[in-house]
Amino acid sequence: MQIIKVKDSVVGGKKGFEVFKQALANGAKVFGLATGSTPETTYTELRNSDLDFSQCVSLNLDEYVGLQPDNPQSYYRFMHEHLFDAKPFKHNYLPNGMAPDIVAETARYEELLSENPIDLQLLGIGRNGHIGFNEPGSPFDGKTHKVKLTQSTIDANSRFFEHEEDVPRYAISMGIGSILSAKQILMEAYGEKKADAVKAMVEGPITPDCPASALQKHPNVIVIVDEAAASKLN
Ligand code: F6R
Repeated sequence: MQIIKVKDSVVGGKKGFEVFKQALANGAKVFGLATGSTPETTYTELRNSDLDFSQCVSLNLDEYVGLQPDNPQSYYRFMHEHLFDAKPFKHNYLPNGMAPDIVAETARYEELLSENPIDLQLLGIGRNGHIGFNEPGSPFDGKTHKVKLTQSTIDANSRFFEHEEDVPRYAISMGIGSILSAKQILMEAYGEKKADAVKAMVEGPITPDCPASALQKHPNVIVIVDEAAASKLN
């Protein structure tokens, strides 16, 4: 793992942008994308840049089950607002959380991933070390699947919803195995609330107790952390 320590998420976003730029220059065509507050500064840099993704494909990590694409909290909407509306791709794929058969949808998505192997996967990390919606205990070889959200993730995500009851209880997520298939991984983490998870990811044992520790097994990972998120690293 290559660790890049930065002052804050604004500088982190600029570094993240550089990783995307380099990947494009190296011929990357398929980008795995994440939602949440972490990637926002990278998306701002990408939006404001002249990088051309019109011949590229994106696949998002996850989507809630049961939210219409136009719901303000859907990941579809998030991605359009933060990136896709300003920066057109040839195609943007997200899991369809409204699919009538969610299991069939997970198989369809895994098929898309095998047809479009990810060149660069962007990730954030949960306070409990989750990546995508892969909570502690998730198998390292997991594929795209339906997830029942844990209470800690529901609590963390409730800040985006009016009422806690409005937070969906299920999501579709790429598995850890699907994530590890990416040729390169860019993990960003900001703020002291991520410090324990960052320490476990980088310095802890490789264990499903910290899903992000699986990244230690991957040969090409860049981690961008601010001082607060890096504060517990040796
Ligand atoms: C988002 C995702 C999640 C987030 C993580 C951190 O698509 O899969 O794993 O990356 O929950 O969220 P933020 O960035 O909001 O702290």
